[in-house]
Amino acid sequence: MTILVDMGTDRTGQSVPIDLEELLATRLLVQGNSGSGKSHLLRRLLEKSAGQVQQVVIDPEGDFVTLAEPYGHVVIDGLDHSEREVAALAERIREHRASVILNLEGLEAEGQMRCAAAFLSGMFEAPREHWYPVLVVVDEAQLFAPTGGGEVSEEVRRASLGAMTNLMCRGRKRGLAGIIATQRLAKLAKNVAAEASNFLMGRTFLDIDMARAADLLGMERRQAEQIRDLQRGTFLALGPAVSRRAVSVTIGAVETSARGGSPKLTPLPDAPPEDMKELLFSFAEEAPPPPPPPPAPPKQPASEALMERLAASRPAAQPSLPDKEPEEVAAITASVLRAIVADADSAYRAPAVLFQDFQVRCRMEGLSPPPLDLAGFTRRLACARAGIFDAPGEDWAPALDLAESLPDDMLGAFLLVARAAREGAPCPSDAEIAETYGTSSLGRVRRLLGYIESRDLFVSRVDLAGKRSISLPHLGWTTRPAEV
Ligand SMILES: Nc1ncnc2c1ncn2[C@@H]1O[C@H](COP(=O)(O)OP(=O)(O)OP(=O)(O)O)[C@@H](O)[C@H]1O
Ligand SMILES: [Mg+2]
Repeated sequence: MTILVDMGTDRTGQSVPIDLEELLATRLLVQGNSGSGKSHLLRRLLEKSAGQVQQVVIDPEGDFVTLAEPYGHVVIDGLDHSEREVAALAERIREHRASVILNLEGLEAEGQMRCAAAFLSGMFEAPREHWYPVLVVVDEAQLFAPTGGGEVSEEVRRASLGAMTNLMCRGRKRGLAGIIATQRLAKLAKNVAAEASNFLMGRTFLDIDMARAADLLGMERRQAEQIRDLQRGTFLALGPAVSRRAVSVTIGAVETSARGGSPKLTPLPDAPPEDMKELLFSFAEEAPPPPPPPPAPPKQPASEALMERLAASRPAAQPSLPDKEPEEVAAITASVLRAIVADADSAYRAPAVLFQDFQVRCRMEGLSPPPLDLAGFTRRLACARAGIFDAPGEDWAPALDLAESLPDDMLGAFLLVARAAREGAPCPSDAEIAETYGTSSLGRVRRLLGYIESRDLFVSRVDLAGKRSISLPHLGWTTRPAEV
């Protein structure tokens, strides 16, 4: 089936279409300086192909949420969910073929990367029966697959880069078609950019980016100058889904608009300087601020509501494991988790990355598909890091319920202490907790314990010999004093 998506017009006014099916197989890279019209181009593509193909947008600025109303995309706000929930939502999205905007506005750079990594990995790991074709649009892709290190932790950078690499390099078989846009090719990891076979290059000023763009378009260096002179909204296009030779395309109009848009000059206010001074310094006489509003009544967790919208009533398909008894599956799962935790390399790796390792090890043990999904694995990994390798039984339920209110990455450390307290064993040392928490910083461990204590889940006391013990007041469990 050929579906042509009309992107705009060439120099002679002829329509320039993109072949949607070919695009699914060959991916797209868009480059252009700020204001060159990349987001407008992505919006045109999304609007014109809405209803023909499932669409997922990773949206760092919250630009694309305006598609929700006219086209029915579900908006997932990164701020409202834990990593685990985001990964679970991603799997549901594949199952139900929902079109979705993942809005990352308001998250710090590291949070954006974590959220996108969990989401993309969740989509990537979806079971085979849900490998339907989906356009995965990532605006500002250099944020998620940067060339260099930057401010964020190595673990987060690796997880995000790994997820983007999977999307672009290994996604095709799974039905994932990456459509990525970036302001600067030089800032985007090369292996991520290299897997796109279609290019739309917009106005680009810096020589280094211009040279890379010209290379990708197969242009001579001296022809590359024209990339500098492109008008806003005009792109040079090349690739199997658009044209075999580079053509210039002026992107057509869109139905919806970005929230915000370009700033327009508006007349300055005409207050004379004295009035302005008064306006600026008048806060001293202002009435005191109103008291804060009373706390909102507890609402249904956002993730639950979203799950309901996405899923309606169908339960998630359970992987079938025909030729193994449940006890055997449980034993293999426990031994694979044990092996992963024992591997010194895995201490600082993110669950989404280790999940791939888990799948491979399970396959080697004759367990395919794997017995856990990413969300389940993340939880079991935290338990395993705390020394609980078998699936935690009913007796762990109260402790796991308590841990629900903690961020995902604290679960392992919480359970390590909880296990010692439950068994009346000595309190784990800061170094042991650090290892479970995946850090080498004892300062971070102290902040972690302080945080859990501030939530009244732990109460620690130091005896006169300077030895710490920790109690879990809700459960009545207490560790013995630490040995070191
Ligand atoms: N083909 C076009 N037709 C009409 N207006 C356009 C076109 N392309 C872009 N614009 C307008 O130009 C402005 C900048 O475009 P856009 O936001 O798409 O740029 P961008 O390349 O995504 O920039 P940034 O990298 O800063 O996000 C927007 O107000 C947009 O509406
Ligand atoms: Mg943009």
